[in-house]
Amino acid sequence: MAIPEKRVYPRTGDKDTVYLENVINNPNITVGSYTMYNDFVNDPVLFEKNNVLYHYPVNDDKLVIGKFCSIACGARFLFNSANHSMHSLSTYPFPLFYEEWGLERRDVARSWDNKGDIIVGNDVWIGYEAVILAGITIGDGAIIGARSLVTKDVPPYTIVGGVPARPIRKRFSEETIHDLSEIKWWDWPKEKIAAKMNAIQSGCIEEMRVS
Ligand SMILES: CC(C)(COP(=O)(O)OP(=O)(O)OC[C@H]1O[C@@H](n2cnc3c(N)ncnc32)[C@H](O)[C@@H]1OP(=O)(O)O)[C@@H](O)C(=O)NCCC(=O)NCCS
Repeated sequence: MAIPEKRVYPRTGDKDTVYLENVINNPNITVGSYTMYNDFVNDPVLFEKNNVLYHYPVNDDKLVIGKFCSIACGARFLFNSANHSMHSLSTYPFPLFYEEWGLERRDVARSWDNKGDIIVGNDVWIGYEAVILAGITIGDGAIIGARSLVTKDVPPYTIVGGVPARPIRKRFSEETIHDLSEIKWWDWPKEKIAAKMNAIQSGCIEEMRVS
């Protein structure tokens, strides 16, 4: 039997793991192929509601996640509407309660400071209950440790952990990171990835270069 293109559940009998791109409805969230989310507490299909927080349409913030990412249970993306404005004498979000204070509805976004979109590269592993703040870019191949609070950009192939998240170490030598960033195996056709599976899994970068 042919496998349907838009599969939500990649693993037979496992309703805790989804291909994220196939459960996303919000046009401000884009997710690459094969990126998966696992949730054994809540329904993983509800990722937009449970994991992408303070992401109000009025702000138009983008969440962009690359291909082949692994996102663990309870990882969360905190968007700009969580950042009460600190440019006024009070952090109380008066513009949000415009009816109460006779303010203009169109100024509602003045309630919060805008730090920008969240961009996650390809082949990124985000650990259990990690929190990623607005404006953060995470490079290809990075690893975000369990329960980390990511407040700064994470360079490619860097492991970070803690609150706030600090670099723990690079995953590979600068040379290998450079090679992987050039090869971009995640953009290969599925057949080529399957053919190179052994090289990917065994860490044989030379084999990745042979076509
Ligand atoms: C980040 C991680 C990948 C690092 O693994 P590792 O390289 O084997 O790390 P080590 O155990 O050798 O620890 C290296 C250092 O990082 C620290 N560290 C490890 N994980 C950390 C975390 N999540 N937060 C903060 N610091 C962490 C260790 O305390 C150690 O610090 P030290 O050098 O000061 O002693 C791993 O600890 C982790 O958090 N994995 C995520 C697991 C997960 O959430 N899985 C979900 C299912 S997919």
